[in-house]
Amino acid sequence: MNHYQDEEFVLIVDDSRTNLAILAQTLGSIGLKIRVAVDGQSALEAVECELPALILLDVEMPGINGFETCSRLKANSATQHIPIIFMTALSDTANKVKGLSLGAIDYITRPFEQEEVLARVRVHLQLHHLTKTLEEKSKVLQQQNHLLEQLTDQLEQRVEERTAALQSTQVQMVQQEKLSMLGQLVAGIAHEMNNPIACIVSNITPAKQYIADLGKIIQLYQQHYPQPALAIRQALEDLEIEFVLEDLPKLLDSMRLSSDRIKDISVSLRNFSRSDSISKVAVNLHDGLNSTLVILGHRLKANSDRPAVTIVKAYGELPQVECYPGPLNQVFMNILANAIDAIEETAPPAPQIQIQTELVENTAIIRISDNAGGIPEAVQARVFDPLFTTKPVGKGTGLGLSIARQIVQDQHGGTLRVVTEIGSGTVFEIALPTSAIFT
Ligand SMILES: Nc1ncnc2c1ncn2[C@@H]1O[C@H](COP(=O)(O)OP(=O)(O)O)[C@@H](O)[C@H]1O
Ligand SMILES: [Mg+2]
Repeated sequence: MNHYQDEEFVLIVDDSRTNLAILAQTLGSIGLKIRVAVDGQSALEAVECELPALILLDVEMPGINGFETCSRLKANSATQHIPIIFMTALSDTANKVKGLSLGAIDYITRPFEQEEVLARVRVHLQLHHLTKTLEEKSKVLQQQNHLLEQLTDQLEQRVEERTAALQSTQVQMVQQEKLSMLGQLVAGIAHEMNNPIACIVSNITPAKQYIADLGKIIQLYQQHYPQPALAIRQALEDLEIEFVLEDLPKLLDSMRLSSDRIKDISVSLRNFSRSDSISKVAVNLHDGLNSTLVILGHRLKANSDRPAVTIVKAYGELPQVECYPGPLNQVFMNILANAIDAIEETAPPAPQIQIQTELVENTAIIRISDNAGGIPEAVQARVFDPLFTTKPVGKGTGLGLSIARQIVQDQHGGTLRVVTEIGSGTVFEIALPTSAIFT
């Protein structure tokens, strides 16, 4: 009937060898393991080596007596949970009360009935087991609770991250929708401007010719009729005809220059907002870059805070590149606009943007560099994050570079990266496979 745990034992502490023998035999009869100690001091030492499941403790002993031994065991956090039963001939109430108030769980007086001792020991061992099991269970529960809390925290964080990602995707979609509508609007305007501008440009040359002809006629009249009627003479003088004839061709020349410029802008607008997005088309990337520069022209001019931004083009030999030209021009636009923003902010004495292109194997490389002082380290890691901006509300959306990266990497299988040096400037490098078969 040994249902006690293997390593479990009861410690009997008594200075009488006879008492020890009797108790050991009684408890041994039900399969309990026994260890003995003959005084308080050796009991304390024994407990230090290994914890008993229960202690039967005599009170009257030489040296450290039972009460003192009990107090010491209860004062030590390692031993305070061991159940202690006093077994003594001291049967008066005062001693019983003292023993129990010291933390003992039971008090048995001698002479005792074997059956009674066994019954009490069994009950206390069972209680001890139950308490231990409960403690272990509650520990497990605590651990599970803790785990649950951690999982909840993780879940909350994931939800937050997802929500943020979703929001930024939505903002990006709205932004892209706006851009594509703007692109359509611009393309429409550019198209509508096309015919009237072509008409003006093509009519200026004949107009100049006609005016030259009319001038000749007037000169002929003056030669052959040096004395016209008074009214005509008067009118010629009022008109300052000499000046008009000299000024008219100049006027027409400057009109031609301006209308050529309008034509350039219109071509650039159309080029820039190309919306052939169903399949890739082979285009000259330099045209896209040039068109973007024309559209940004007004932002490059000198203003009260800084001189004009010099554009240095170092174009290499690039083949036609299979791409979506509209979105790609948006990328050029975003990067160039960022460079101009950075120049506005740091106002370098000789602001400059360099655009360099080259072909490396099957990859077209476009580098757009500025001399606006670079990007601080803390900002560098985040420039491609959606919604990250260092610009005031209303000026920056923080979407330019994240959309640019998406266009270059996801739509074109290329790469977009930044190299920056604090105090000097920043380079954005776009690498694009020249042919769709490389993507
Ligand atoms: N050429 C540059 N020089 C310095 N900082 C830059 C440059 N280009 C981008 N940045 C930094 O990257 C941030 C994110 O750029 P972007 O995604 O285009 O958003 P936005 O221009 O709306 O702020 C900018 O706010 C700026 O701090
Ligand atoms: Mg931007």
